[in-house]
Amino acid sequence: MKLTDRIIVALDNMNEEEVWAFLNKSQHTYQTVKIGLELFYLLGPDFVKKIHHEYNVDIFLDLKLHDIPNTVKKAIRSLKGLPLKFLTVHLTGGRNMLTEALAEASTCLPATNLLGVSFLTSLGKPDFKEIYNFNETQTKLTFSNLFRLALQTNIHGVVLSPLELGIVKNEEQQSGKKLIKVTPGIRFAHEINSNNIQDQQRIATPEDAVKNGADYLVMGRSITSGTPNFLK
Ligand code: C5P
Repeated sequence: MKLTDRIIVALDNMNEEEVWAFLNKSQHTYQTVKIGLELFYLLGPDFVKKIHHEYNVDIFLDLKLHDIPNTVKKAIRSLKGLPLKFLTVHLTGGRNMLTEALAEASTCLPATNLLGVSFLTSLGKPDFKEIYNFNETQTKLTFSNLFRLALQTNIHGVVLSPLELGIVKNEEQQSGKKLIKVTPGIRFAHEINSNNIQDQQRIATPEDAVKNGADYLVMGRSITSGTPNFLK
């Protein structure tokens, strides 16, 4: 698969007009776009359908659902019929929530891959210490637990930082199963070298993320604030 086919463009920081302008400019370059909380709250399900139908792109709806099992189940039911390739839930919602989410998605959104979000890529060492009182080893062990939970629930994939791809490789080998691995926290080498990484912390270049096993890369500002067709 060529690199651009692995890129999921995050349509953040744009109003509706800017989204259409971006899609017109970058048409046929990217196969998948990610609609996050920002645009979904503003423009809703009709906007998702419109993008899918008018631009023939796959949709990643990044709602990062995180609530009790019944609420997540009903939220997924409300999305019934949307043309989604990917939808996100938080792995920290726990086993019961993930199981209910998968069961509901299998009937309401049968063509959708449910992705479990592990730790946000914007969290760094001080955040893990402050929130969970974790040192680096404890953070890694907890990430492994989350990934094992993902494997056991048979969720379709996970969202993780490119720095955790090594841990995942070991877990996958031991379990004999493979999940779709999607990594945000992607920055070009020149951005990393000039510390132009905005709020992201656990990051890598597109090339390194793919080399280490990422199936898809979520890229927002590096693409949407720059030249869309840079990789052609
Ligand atoms: O602009 P940037 O490339 O940092 O955008 C990354 C995108 O990936 C954002 O839309 C953000 O919501 C999403 N994301 C993330 N970290 C996660 C899950 C999703 O940055 N763990």
